[in-house]
Order: sequence, then structure tokens, then C-alpha cells
Amino acid sequence: MALLNLGSKNPIAKRCESDSLTKERLKYNPLYLSLDRQEATRVWLQGEEKVMLTSNEYLGLGEHPKVIEGGKKAMDEWGSGTTGARSANGSRYFHERLEEKIADFLGKEACHVSVAGYVSCITSVAAFAQRGDVVLADKNNHSSLVSGMKLSDARVERFSHNNVADLEDILSYEKSKTPKLLVFDGIYSMEGHIAPVRELVEVAKNHDCFAVMDDAHGFGVMGEGGRGTAHHFGVTDELDIICGSFSKALSSTGGFVVGSRAAIEYLRTHSKQTIFSAAISPAAAGCAEAALEVLQTEPEHLEKLWENTKRLKGIYESIGLDTWGSDTPAIPVVIGDRMRAYFFWKTLLENGVFSILSTTPAVPPGKDLIRTAASARHTEEDFEIIEKAFRIAAKKHL
Ligand SMILES: Cc1ncc(COP(=O)(O)O)c(C=O)c1O
Repeated sequence: MALLNLGSKNPIAKRCESDSLTKERLKYNPLYLSLDRQEATRVWLQGEEKVMLTSNEYLGLGEHPKVIEGGKKAMDEWGSGTTGARSANGSRYFHERLEEKIADFLGKEACHVSVAGYVSCITSVAAFAQRGDVVLADKNNHSSLVSGMKLSDARVERFSHNNVADLEDILSYEKSKTPKLLVFDGIYSMEGHIAPVRELVEVAKNHDCFAVMDDAHGFGVMGEGGRGTAHHFGVTDELDIICGSFSKALSSTGGFVVGSRAAIEYLRTHSKQTIFSAAISPAAAGCAEAALEVLQTEPEHLEKLWENTKRLKGIYESIGLDTWGSDTPAIPVVIGDRMRAYFFWKTLLENGVFSILSTTPAVPPGKDLIRTAASARHTEEDFEIIEKAFRIAAKKHL
């Protein structure tokens, strides 16, 4: 698909017609691929069957009968939408029930749910930081946290990825009375890295920082029973805010913020994204609630996820691929060079594996990569297809 040059005169329409990044995307077409159908770990792209190797649905609960039933039941009771914002006419009993369950599961006092993880993470920063404050942010933070910082009017200081010494160095120049927020991801979605959460919260405590952690990829995956990265490190109480998503382990859509009752009620008073955006739909909330129940009653999905993570990493290691030190089911294969990464990705697709090509600025320069993720539902047959495709791609392009 080529961009049409319509000869527009106004500068912004002209910018859209001539944007080089958009032209490049449309020429190579690695993104926005539209699937015809899906079944477990298999998807069909223009009639061709592929193994899905980059789903965020780590536990593979999207077709679980109890999850489907949860969504259907919620729609039967409440209809399709929520008719307004939580602050106005959109609050429903099922929202509060889901919030109580999430807060209880994660060991926090209160929770607020929203339409997307992205919204929950934006608001976890934007609602609390204000002009005059300083935000200490990991350089590889997810885009949602970065957007939250931009909206907040606070000054932002970035420390090197997962580098606690660098954070301490930056803090040594800050006045003790300046209000501070420490903002980081529990699990980095592209890198698969786990944050050194214990050390980070220790620094936060020593400098009176309000600590915010995005655990979109740790929730349902890390910690005992999937209670997340804070639970994994035993530091739930030391974090002021944990935010995350229902679109990963819980196979729905939507997001959450948990914290003290005071912090959540403050967010409900001050967060523009909360006050002026419609509440999460009955179907999405119903599926998330049912998936949370499955997570707590059927531990086999989480066990299988970690077994499959080991199997997938083993394949990459046997081929000698660079997985950037990932310790989680989100496993990148770093190629380094943009065009080589593109051709690697294309070869995988031609050989029956659906992955994501991730290039700068989504990843640091020189780290262009293929983003892959293990799922609890991957089978031995899937792994055989995956291994064959990666061996072919590595032989051709590395
Ligand atoms: C680390 C992280 N935070 C937040 C989000 C946003 O979540 P959602 O897709 O539910 O909006 C994502 C999405 O991929 C993510 O990877």
C-alpha cells in the first residue's frame, strides 16, 4: 500500500502525506497485519496457518470456557457498554467487585480499573506528579509511563536501565525537600528483564520517593500464584502504586491501579483520564474477573507457562541467538541491524511463525529485535515449527 500524495496545502495534511516513517512502514508492512482467524496458538494470515509466537496472553486463557462464560454473563446482565465515566453514570457493581478482587489478590488496600492498561499506567504517573516535583525514570520505561510523565508537568530525570547506582547518583544532586516519584517497569516488555525491585524500593525509601511500578507483564506471571513482581520480591508494601493490564495474563482488555485507599481516592479526584473517560465494558471486566478466578484455581496454566519459557529459551540458546538476558516469558531475539531484523522476521513468517519486528525508537539503537513470547498453550508441535523457522532465519541472515 503506497501513501497517496493528494497535494494538500495545509502543513499538517502535507506532513501526513510525506512522512518517511509511515512510507517505510507501508512499504515493508511488518505491522498491523490483520488475522483471518485464531485457534489456541495458531493464527491464519491471508489463509496461511502460523504459530503465534508473540502473544501477550501468557496463560492462554482467551478461549477458556470459564473466561468466555464470564464475559457473556456480564453482557447478559449489563448490556454492551457502560454509558459514561466512572465519576459520572458509568460506575457499576461489577467494577467494584473486580477492584476488590484485584486489590485483595495483589495485597493492596484499593484498586481502580480502567479501559486499558495504557490508561492505567499514564494515570499512575500523571495523577500524582505535578509541577515542582521530579520524576526519576528508568530509560527503558514503557511508553505509557513516558506519556504520563509528559502530561504531569513534573521535571523528569532518567537513569540507565536497571542501574540502581545511576539512580542514586542522580538523586544525590536533588534537594531533599523536592517531592519525588520513582517510576519503573517490573518486567520490561521488549527486553524481558526483571527490574531490581528490592534495591529500587530501598533507594526510594531512603530518599522519600513515591514508588510507582508498571507490572503489566509481571501480573499473572511472576510471584506465587501470579501475584506479580512486587510479590516475587516480597516488597508489595514498599510500592505506593502498582499498575498493570488485563490484556496480558488475563486475556481481556482493561487496566488497573492498586495502592492505598488514600492514593486511589486521590487518583479518582485528580486523574483526567479517569474522570473524563468511559468505564471499562461489562464484557471486558467479566472476562478479567473470570480469568483472575482461573488463575487462582487452576495453577497448571502458570506452571506450563514457565515450562514452555524454558523450552523456548533452550531452542534459542541451542541456535546461539542473543536473548538479551531475558529471564521471563517475554523473550527478545536481538538482531541489532534494522534491515537484517526485518528480513529475519520475514523469513520466520514465511516459515510459519508469527512474531513482531521491533526497531528503534521502540528499542535502543543497535538493538533491533524480534519480540517473542512463550505461552502456556504452546505445544511440542509448535516448538518444532518454531525451531525449524529460527534455524532457517539464522542461517540466512546472521
Ligand atoms: C509494560 C506495559 N505497560 C502498559 C501496557 C499497556 O497495556 P494495554 O495494552 O492493556 O493498554 C503495555 C502494553 O503492551 C505494556 O507492555
